[in-house]
Amino acid sequence: MVENLRPVLFLDSGIGGLPYYRHFHTRNPREPVVYVADRASFPYGAKDAPTLVSLIRNLIARCIGRFNPKIVVLACNSASVAALDDLRKQFPAFPFVGTVPALKPAIVQSKSRIVGLLGTERTVATLNSSEWTKRYGPDSTVIGIAAPELVNFVENAAITSDEESCERMVAPFVEGFRRAGADSIVLGCTHFLFLSDAFVQRAAPDIHIYDSISGISGRVESLLESMGRNPGTPGEPILVVTGTDPIESRWKHYAEIFGFPGESLYTMPLKIE
Ligand code: DGL
Repeated sequence: MVENLRPVLFLDSGIGGLPYYRHFHTRNPREPVVYVADRASFPYGAKDAPTLVSLIRNLIARCIGRFNPKIVVLACNSASVAALDDLRKQFPAFPFVGTVPALKPAIVQSKSRIVGLLGTERTVATLNSSEWTKRYGPDSTVIGIAAPELVNFVENAAITSDEESCERMVAPFVEGFRRAGADSIVLGCTHFLFLSDAFVQRAAPDIHIYDSISGISGRVESLLESMGRNPGTPGEPILVVTGTDPIESRWKHYAEIFGFPGESLYTMPLKIE
């Protein structure tokens, strides 16, 4: 395949990376894109690091064989904190863009010096136990809370839920951070982007919400500048769901909402090895 016709591949455990995909695709409509939702292994956040590394390595190997992407975007914080270093070693010919929580701007701008981090069990455990959070502000405290129930809510219900239900889901987390004195909350799981409005609504006016969506697009765009952009008309974006055959009907709905044509939605049978 001609180098710059190769697609940019987005990967998440489910729908979490779709807002990241859409942000990128809207700004770069000519670039061919494949979105892989690894429903066969959902949820990523509850898995230990070695399990996650091995299943993502296996999935990436299959995706490389099938799509030969020019860039792989891990649109998932849990996958990125656990597997990014390993993937870069395993597949040195492929540039990887990882998603990590936007702690840097939150820490730098925080006045109370207390920052809330909301993520999965995997992400919070990894970042809490590392020096990472201290890097941008030794005088600040990052309070990490894992919210697997929010991941499940987004994956299974958020899109069809009204604003009031979404706010009800996020309220206890926002209030917990507020009581702890945080003036910022970092959405450290891509699924939580679906709840952005609810977070902003509940957090205003004293707490600022941070996410990493524009940073990720920007990183992919700068890689594309150096690699060469697609000069022609792109094919339709492709949506792949692992391990579900026949495809769960709600994926047809997601495909519609996110602008994937019906015929470009299909399943990829996979086993966790
Ligand atoms: N969307 C993922 C993240 O950003 C993980 C959700 C999950 O599968 O637990 O961490």
